[in-house]
Amino acid sequence: MIDVLVIGALGKMGALTAQTVAAQEDLRVVGLVDPKFGSAEGPPPPVDASAFADVGAALAAVRAEVAVEFSLPASVYANSLATLAAGVHTVVGATGLGDEQLAGLREQAAASGARLFVAPNFALGAVLLMEFARQAARHYEHAEVIELHEASKKDAPSGTALRTARLMVEVEGSRIAGLPGDAPSRGLDVDGVRVHSVRLPGLVAHQEVLIGGENESLTIRHDSYSRASFMPGVLLAVRRVSSLKDSVVGLENLLGE
Ligand SMILES: NC(=O)c1ccc[n+]([C@@H]2O[C@H](COP(=O)([O-])OP(=O)(O)OC[C@H]3O[C@@H](n4cnc5c(N)ncnc54)[C@H](O)[C@@H]3O)[C@@H](O)[C@H]2O)c1
Repeated sequence: MIDVLVIGALGKMGALTAQTVAAQEDLRVVGLVDPKFGSAEGPPPPVDASAFADVGAALAAVRAEVAVEFSLPASVYANSLATLAAGVHTVVGATGLGDEQLAGLREQAAASGARLFVAPNFALGAVLLMEFARQAARHYEHAEVIELHEASKKDAPSGTALRTARLMVEVEGSRIAGLPGDAPSRGLDVDGVRVHSVRLPGLVAHQEVLIGGENESLTIRHDSYSRASFMPGVLLAVRRVSSLKDSVVGLENLLGE
């Protein structure tokens, strides 16, 4: 039985994660963290488990083997640092971690011996999209990423879009070369790959990679129609994180093993 602490447990992802984890025979939710538990008329917990308003209180009261972090870009770093420092293997799903923050979490994980797993996107199709885009970058010079998310998403561009662009630029043999033009409407320039963010009510998580060649173009698209699409990846990470040899970023590193 793996004891799991869910952070951001009253959010859309956190609540679904808590319910999904609680429904597994080999997993158990031992604690839920969300600042909304601190208010008198706060919403009820999504599953039957001890609820805490902050990570410090949860770590002092319950013993978890794995923490799953689905809070917000502003809190994901401090929360993950705290769980890793307490020796709790940490699966980070919340996006918005900067490179320095990621390096800080890796350092903390190495120091405490807890394992860190970070996935900007837990959907299988999104992981495959990134892999196909990476392959295409060896053959084409020009690519743009359009990510489309629900209106309330706090960070832009999405972690998946940034990672897609970086994978395309960094793959061995990449031919990616930027096109000139610095108008804001040309999007964020990630070393030659322009990234555009769309925010609209009704969307969940969607991404297109448009690749242009000589008299041809290739479009790769993935759509998550509901948050349920992320749950198989979350469960895989919860079950595998303790056996990782080191900190790992990206669901692709857990697939096919
Ligand atoms: N990796 C993935 O596959 C994936 C998929 C969807 C969303 N996300 C990311 O997950 C995060 C959460 O998304 P959401 O749609 O559930 O957001 P949400 O706004 O519905 O939920 C966030 C929750 O975090 C809580 N919170 C705020 N501060 C906190 C703190 N200090 N400690 C603990 N909890 C705190 C909020 O009260 C809220 O209940 C976002 O960063 C989003 O981009 C990742």
